[in-house]
Amino acid sequence: MYAPAITGTGVFTPEEVITNDELVVAFNAYADRMNAEHAAAIAAGEMEPIPHSSADFIFSASGIEQRHVLNKSGVLDPEIMHPVLRPRADDEPGVMAEMALDAARKALAAAGRESHEIGAVIVAASNHERAYPAIAVEVQQLLGIEGFGFDMNVACSSATFGIQAAADMIRSGSVKSVLMVNPEICSAHLEWRDRDCHFIFGDVCTAVVLERAEDAKGAHWDVLGTRCLTQFSNNIRNNNGFLRRTRVGQMEDRRDMQFMQNGRKVFREVVPIVSEHLGAHMAALGVEAADVKRLWLHQANKTMNDLIGKKVMGRVPEPGEQPNILQDYANTSSAGSIIAFSQFSEDMGDGDLGIICSFGAGYSVGSVVLRKVG
Ligand code: COA
Repeated sequence: MYAPAITGTGVFTPEEVITNDELVVAFNAYADRMNAEHAAAIAAGEMEPIPHSSADFIFSASGIEQRHVLNKSGVLDPEIMHPVLRPRADDEPGVMAEMALDAARKALAAAGRESHEIGAVIVAASNHERAYPAIAVEVQQLLGIEGFGFDMNVACSSATFGIQAAADMIRSGSVKSVLMVNPEICSAHLEWRDRDCHFIFGDVCTAVVLERAEDAKGAHWDVLGTRCLTQFSNNIRNNNGFLRRTRVGQMEDRRDMQFMQNGRKVFREVVPIVSEHLGAHMAALGVEAADVKRLWLHQANKTMNDLIGKKVMGRVPEPGEQPNILQDYANTSSAGSIIAFSQFSEDMGDGDLGIICSFGAGYSVGSVVLRKVG
């Protein structure tokens, strides 16, 4: 058995930003247009008018102030209301591979590694741009990595489950090092025309290099333990899978083909599952709340994170103990907790403990307990 460690992380952040104000102007223009178009049906009581969205509601309900996206103009055009991404020819890199390369190069540089030293690639994300060949195999080829690659999807927990898969392979000796990447193009599966959720997501890509702790070239994070949990729920669901074309009528513009959620239920049901999961994982490793210097939680909703942090720590965490990146990135699915880890871990000292924890559709929960070395 080898001891796994995280030796580098990297974040690709798309340049384009949509503020809450810009988003709300576009949504309200769309709502006005739809309401005018269906004025007769609304007047006849056959249809409800679409109410306006509000930037104040978005901030107070979620803590989100803006989001980065791959394409702003399409999302903000009331006639389009989704990102417009240039279709790629088969002989050029896909969008996800392109994002992955940027984040991967940063993570490799942080680890002090050349790509040819990596043994395997995992692309773990909540949506993949195609079914096959795996995006991971494309990333592997673009970076000149020998060995193998595979894709995996556990929605918002893809990254922590990816870390567990990588750590297990390193522990067993089947590979010496793994590049685990999370290209999250959440803007493409979000329904920007639905007021209840149009503000939730953003795009980003994170990358993590894991290798044998004994091979680490500098300061690194020993992986003390990983733990994954799933429990089926339809409260967060996206039906836009590969069977979409097989049934008559499925190609129409159906709401249930994009991201759907029962946000209130998710909030109520997921908080206790996550708190219990974290408590049990810490107890199994003999980690007390007082030992934990930092929690890098999944970034979906600030109030939800505040509650989980309080339950795990047994007190209200100090601002620096549970960093949020939600205000700048919105929910970036599996990448959120990794952005927080990447951006808020440099200052920690030798021996300090921290926990990465994701939660989301499935339901799924993944936790990774880390100790800083160096
Ligand atoms: N602008 C203005 N008002 C809005 C609005 C918007 N964009 N969206 C909803 N509202 C209104 C609703 O109509 C509702 O009005 P009512 O009380 O008159 O019926 C009110 O605001 C509250 O809406 P609700 O949907 O219950 O809000 P909420 O406080 O539950 O917050 C979420 C919504 C989605 C932010 C919150 O439930 C959440 O984050 N849940 C967890 C989600 C999660 O983690 N998902 C994982 C995804 S991977």
